[in-house]
Amino acid sequence: MAVEPGSEMNPASTMSPVPNWLRAWAWLTLVAALPLAVLGAETTTKGVGMADQVSLREPWYFFTLNLKETPVGLLIEHAHRLFGWAVGLCAIVLAVGLQLAATGWRRYLGWLALAMVSAQGIFGILRVKWNALAGDELAAFHGCFAQLAFATLVAVAVLLSRTWQTPNAAAHLRKLAIAFVVLVYVQIVFGAIVRHLLHPHAQRLHVLLAFAVVGLAFSLVTRLRASGDPASRLGRVLLVLVLIQPIFGVEAWMRRFAVPGVLPKMVPNDWALDFTRSGHHLLGTAIFLVSVALTVLVCRTARTNEASVSTDQPLGDAA
Ligand code: HEM
Ligand code: HEM
Repeated sequence: MAVEPGSEMNPASTMSPVPNWLRAWAWLTLVAALPLAVLGAETTTKGVGMADQVSLREPWYFFTLNLKETPVGLLIEHAHRLFGWAVGLCAIVLAVGLQLAATGWRRYLGWLALAMVSAQGIFGILRVKWNALAGDELAAFHGCFAQLAFATLVAVAVLLSRTWQTPNAAAHLRKLAIAFVVLVYVQIVFGAIVRHLLHPHAQRLHVLLAFAVVGLAFSLVTRLRASGDPASRLGRVLLVLVLIQPIFGVEAWMRRFAVPGVLPKMVPNDWALDFTRSGHHLLGTAIFLVSVALTVLVCRTARTNEASVSTDQPLGDAA
């Protein structure tokens, strides 16, 4: 892929490594997956994971339900499954499209996305099927793997973007960005253990790690801003999310774990409890996904402007 001499300073003028519709499709697949996070979070928060004990239904099953008579919990759980099918279809189109229209390593990105989405769907089915065996553990696993599936979709969209083709001014921050993204994922895993399994060690570690997440976010974003790289725009978003998240965390904590005489699993749902619990889960997802996008950008090829004119073959791609 050649970049027109003199045009490399303007990211928008950098040529796309794949057809525009495929780049747009990668973003569409990601956007289609976001309702899965909301509906999945609400399924857990409202405790309706087993609203339907049949683990596998036809893709169109949701449309056979009577909307007025079906309980809200069952509707949420089946809307979640419906979006699962939709995202699976989007991922198939992405995989076939990239296989046919992309070259080099980009050809395999769609298959990776499809594998992650399919695995997540299978884990969802198993969470329901094997509920009696290890329902809570499987729910926690399904929640944690979901983050990796979303992260793959984000990474694929960013790797296909034009910005990923531009020179990198923040390559020196790679290790810090990778450390941050790993830390956030560990924090999410402890959060999932708190949410599903109520383990006291995870509770302690989750609160303590929150300090590290906020501290490292500040350090990363400050350095990113100093580098002037386009990734620093994401840094600002990250900082806002990371500062709001502990507020939701404390609220979720107080409303679920500090109700006198009521066990956490028995606390009755109301809109404030649901909003703070699902909100905290979703903000955690947003923090992780913005960190993944930022890290993928910071890890792009560290070409100088001059080098990008003479050769434009990151990772050996002949696209
Ligand atoms: C690409 C497909 C899917 C994605 C990305 C996804 C994502 C998620 C997420 C993010 C949650 C929230 C976890 C939490 O709050 O801790 C969730 C929960 C859940 N998902 Fe999925 N899911 C997918 C497919 C499925 C499928 C196919 C099924 C069932 C056949 C399913 C069943 C469930 C159930 C039952 C829960 C609630 C778990 C609980 O009891 O707490 N999911 N999912
Ligand atoms: C920036 C720091 C934080 C991040 C990224 C984060 C992220 C998360 C995530 C993603 C979950 C849900 C995990 C899942 O279901 O898969 C969670 C659960 C939880 N977090 Fe945090 N958290 C942070 C800080 C805090 C703080 C400071 C507190 C409280 C002092 C807190 C309290 C909780 C509680 C109580 C839960 C369980 C909520 C429930 O039962 O629904 N978190 N956290």
